[in-house]
Amino acid sequence: MTPNIRPLVAGNWKMNGLRDALGTINEIAQSSEDSALSKIDMLLCPPATLLYVATTLCEDVPLQIGGQDCHANKSGAHTGDISADMIADCLGTQIIVGHSERRTDHGETDSEIRAKAEAAIEAGLVAIVCIGETEEERKSGKTLDVLKTQLAGSVPDNATAANTVIAYEPVWAIGTGLVPSNGDVEEAHAFIRSEMASRFNAEGEKMRLLYGGSVKPSNAAELMAIANVDGALVGGASLKSEDFLAICKATAGNLG
Ligand code: 13P
Repeated sequence: MTPNIRPLVAGNWKMNGLRDALGTINEIAQSSEDSALSKIDMLLCPPATLLYVATTLCEDVPLQIGGQDCHANKSGAHTGDISADMIADCLGTQIIVGHSERRTDHGETDSEIRAKAEAAIEAGLVAIVCIGETEEERKSGKTLDVLKTQLAGSVPDNATAANTVIAYEPVWAIGTGLVPSNGDVEEAHAFIRSEMASRFNAEGEKMRLLYGGSVKPSNAAELMAIANVDGALVGGASLKSEDFLAICKATAGNLG
């Protein structure tokens, strides 16, 4: 945690969730009013097919809904793509960009991810920019170099603490049950903080830095207690309301 930064716990549903999963979103939405959760922000990013209905379930509660990706353009001939304006129009508030699965499945580059983040910001939304090293890069001692390059390439020049969140997700920790040591998470987050602070000054000092990769109810409190970890980006465990809520409560509990 960073003093005076309001944590964010975000759930990334990836390509999971049919209409019957709206019940799960509704359960999380109703529970988000719990006073024990009032000190954190909560976000769910369901698949685009559920996004609008999901926002209608959250009209009067603090749970926010976001997108998992957007196109860099506002509109046009891009079959199958979704613009940041469309997500804003569906009352989404944030958009994940540059997730490692998009970098791998769709070959997205840092400059494309930067353009998507710019589009999200231009639409008045928060861009959650994902970065992270592969197992091979970690083993060969390149982690911080990789993070430096991804941050420099993917984060827009007009990033502020209000419009940008950085999510550090080691690729090898995603969906594997593997988690870096506390010391490795601390080192990566301290590095990201110093990079953002040297580029964006006070805005970089205040920017939220999330950890993602096999966050579970059992490890959330420990991970969230690490310096400069200002919340979590949760995959698999966000698909179950009780697990996601337990992670949210563990995060809020760390605030004392
Ligand atoms: P898991 O929590 O399933 O490891 O996924 C993390 C992730 O990729 C969130 O964006």
